[in-house]
Amino acid sequence: LNKNRRFFETRELRTKASARAFCSIANLGAGFDVFGLAINRYSDTVTARLTRSRKIRIFNHGLDSTRLPAEPSRNSAGPPAIALLRRAGIKQGVELTITKNVPQGLGLGSSGATAAACTKTLDYLLDLKLSNDELVQTASLGEKAVAGAAHADNVAASLLGGFVIVYDNPVRTIVEKPPRNLRVVVATPQLRVQTDKTRKARKLVPRTIETRKAVLNVGRASSIAMGFARGDIRLIGTGMDDAIAEPYRRNLIPGFDDVKRLAIDSGAAGVSISGAGPSLTALVDAKKHDPREVGRRMVRGFAQNKVRSKWFVAQPAPAAAIIKGR
Ligand code: HSE
Repeated sequence: LNKNRRFFETRELRTKASARAFCSIANLGAGFDVFGLAINRYSDTVTARLTRSRKIRIFNHGLDSTRLPAEPSRNSAGPPAIALLRRAGIKQGVELTITKNVPQGLGLGSSGATAAACTKTLDYLLDLKLSNDELVQTASLGEKAVAGAAHADNVAASLLGGFVIVYDNPVRTIVEKPPRNLRVVVATPQLRVQTDKTRKARKLVPRTIETRKAVLNVGRASSIAMGFARGDIRLIGTGMDDAIAEPYRRNLIPGFDDVKRLAIDSGAAGVSISGAGPSLTALVDAKKHDPREVGRRMVRGFAQNKVRSKWFVAQPAPAAAIIKGR
């Protein structure tokens, strides 16, 4: 039976596959463009079907699907698909059906989750067996299409799961399992979602920084990495201030200081802007503090600044995975 199954799973016969990838929190403060944490609140699914035409066609379903571009060059699934078909050296095209579940424009790595799911499903369908680093590099092409730069922190987290460090050129990745008690509280101000938000938020970050700021961030980022390696949530929290992007992006988030202070006062180990914002992320040791109380306080902080907001508590999520039986 096994032999039979293996035969039917060979490359020639497989024409359709689906993968799912979770959303993620990028940066975690000092790890601008370097750290990502996958969380289990939302996920995107991408189904790929090989076709005889040479085209890449994209069908968007689910959340806000009318706002998602179907042109491959403007959808984060497009560039990874083009790269992977080329790599496989096949002349076929592919139909990509995206089932969007990760809300866009909130700082939860929505485009990254789609790019990750697309890369995962095509790697499987085309039997490419790419390494983690190659998968991440490929998926990051999707971010370039929608945000102007191939930042790889969200896609790395969505693809590999848990806490991920992505660095160097060509890309290298390190994956670490987050501490078991870690809870991720996300508070999202109800602001008007901007078009091209990430692209705009990236433009706010200066091209060059002072050595003093780089030193601060290297120290803090090191504490975050060590914190994950040791499973020490308090240590992770000490690194979550950021001297590179936060000083320029915080002004886009009314009540930033109040929300951060209230979260820390109610037991959060650290608080940072979630990716390019506008959500804020607080990391909490659930053994010591109630993450729901942190969420409630964060909402109060926004309310003090006349901003309505919502919160949720999530846990770290696993890697992107092929969905069997589709
Ligand atoms: N690291 C990226 C940024 C994440 O902060 O611009 C965007 O989702």
